[in-house]
Amino acid sequence: MTGLYPEFERILLDEASIQQRVAELAQEISADYRGQGSIILITILKGGFMFAADLARRLTIPHYMDFMALSSYGSKSISGAVRILLDMRLDIYNKHVLVVEDIVDTGKTLEYLTVNLNARRPASLKTCVLTRKPGDNRHVTVDYLGFEIPDVWVVGYGLDYAERHRTWPFIAELKPEAYS
Ligand code: IMP
Ligand code: MG
Repeated sequence: MTGLYPEFERILLDEASIQQRVAELAQEISADYRGQGSIILITILKGGFMFAADLARRLTIPHYMDFMALSSYGSKSISGAVRILLDMRLDIYNKHVLVVEDIVDTGKTLEYLTVNLNARRPASLKTCVLTRKPGDNRHVTVDYLGFEIPDVWVVGYGLDYAERHRTWPFIAELKPEAYS
């Protein structure tokens, strides 16, 4: 596999480890929201799509799916200002909302989203993030976290580099020379 893709440094998280962790998160989330009615999962496109699909299929509480697409200005591996490319369709007023994201680096995306969604006055707002880099992101709250990962560029399981490598069932680390 890595032989086919010389730009992979290594497989950081294999498929079994991801699936195991997603199952644990789904169990934890289901237990926390039990008895509170339906929740709305808001998945951040494109990166969150695979994580959300696996997570949702393992939830044992009623839930609705919706999606938002965000973009940050700036070059490929540096975060800049955030804007909404696609807004959700459901009304989240007075609803329990769980944001599903692929990764938190600087936290700018999640911070922007939290402010934006809170302005719509949901009953509650929590965040579920698959991976977190050791960036300057402690100002944003991640309520459910899959994995802490090192400060490297990762691809697969929804994550891309210039739209490539999104659909691998694992998460791989790119060699620095592939993205710098
Ligand atoms: P933040 O706003 O700096 O927290 O960056 C979050 C966004 O940057 C994520 O939603 C991803 O789209 C993107 N991103 C950051 N690091 C990576 C990575 O290693 N691989 C793929 N996308 C990444
Ligand atoms: Mg993203």
